[in-house]
Amino acid sequence: MKATALAHPNIALVKYWGKRDDALILPHQSSLSLTLSPLSVTTTVEFGAGADHVEINGHTAKGSERERVLRVLEAVRAEAGGGLGHARMVSRGDFPAAAGLASSAAGFAALAVAARAAAGLPADPKAASVLSRLGSGSACRSVQGGFCEWRRGERPDGTDSYAVQRFEAGHWPELRMVVAILNRDEKEVKSRDGMKHTVETSPYYEAWVRDAEAEVPRAVEIIQRRELEALGELAERNAWRMHATALAADPPLCYLHPGTLGLIEHLREQRKKGMPVWFTLDAGPNPVLLTDAAHEVAAEALARACGAQDVVRCVPGGDAALKSEHLF
Ligand code: PMV
Repeated sequence: MKATALAHPNIALVKYWGKRDDALILPHQSSLSLTLSPLSVTTTVEFGAGADHVEINGHTAKGSERERVLRVLEAVRAEAGGGLGHARMVSRGDFPAAAGLASSAAGFAALAVAARAAAGLPADPKAASVLSRLGSGSACRSVQGGFCEWRRGERPDGTDSYAVQRFEAGHWPELRMVVAILNRDEKEVKSRDGMKHTVETSPYYEAWVRDAEAEVPRAVEIIQRRELEALGELAERNAWRMHATALAADPPLCYLHPGTLGLIEHLREQRKKGMPVWFTLDAGPNPVLLTDAAHEVAAEALARACGAQDVVRCVPGGDAALKSEHLF
């Protein structure tokens, strides 16, 4: 009735931007990501409690944060056939306070794996991926490590919309992701609201969906061949296209800061001089640099020279996994 799991966050190389079903969190297009180590979230779930209790990073969760967790727990109870009672959930991230990276993907992946185990359900990455998706879309790509593809799926009930691992972390051990924290403030428009606004008002939205869907198999081929330059180019153009689609919304959505553009410009200059470094950018001002092990220190220096307050160097991460030590 009690289990603990650890999961890593992921960064999308082909991004998810827009839902076709807001309640089930079903995307308009497929996406592809890399799981990041060493950042992680650990979550313990115990069923049979007197009342539902949700604690995240030392605080009792409230509002939509709590609702999203309870929704996942409710789905587990339904799958287990009832009789589990209320649940106590405690979750803790080891993200540096200023990491600026969303920990929700790792959090919901860890929750899904721990809750299924606590309920006595068998280990099943597909079922855990579908479950974590109900909390946060991108979480479905953190159940497994390495490179994961979240398939759009066709069914209206979402049972075929989950992430599958395309390559294990060990497929490309020299790959590095360097997170550059230019700004620690919470973003003004959350991904959830930003993507909804983009779907509803951007005239470029259909083109985004078509293009991103077609980029996924190209990215898979490039990763298969471990071609850093081709992957860097693909990740950059996909990030630009996501932001272009959001910029075309009405009113426009601009996640980039002057410092973001400054870093991107500097990165381009360094690349002309021969440094293998590219970027991707989620719905916020902090770029993630894509490079190799031989250049991660130089990439960190580049980010700091451009005003990064914090830098987190990451390597390809592994699967979400059960732990024998619990948080309570
Ligand atoms: O899953 P959410 O609601 O955190 O949205 C994630 C959206 C992006 O980070 C911008 C892209 C992605 O695929 O992770």
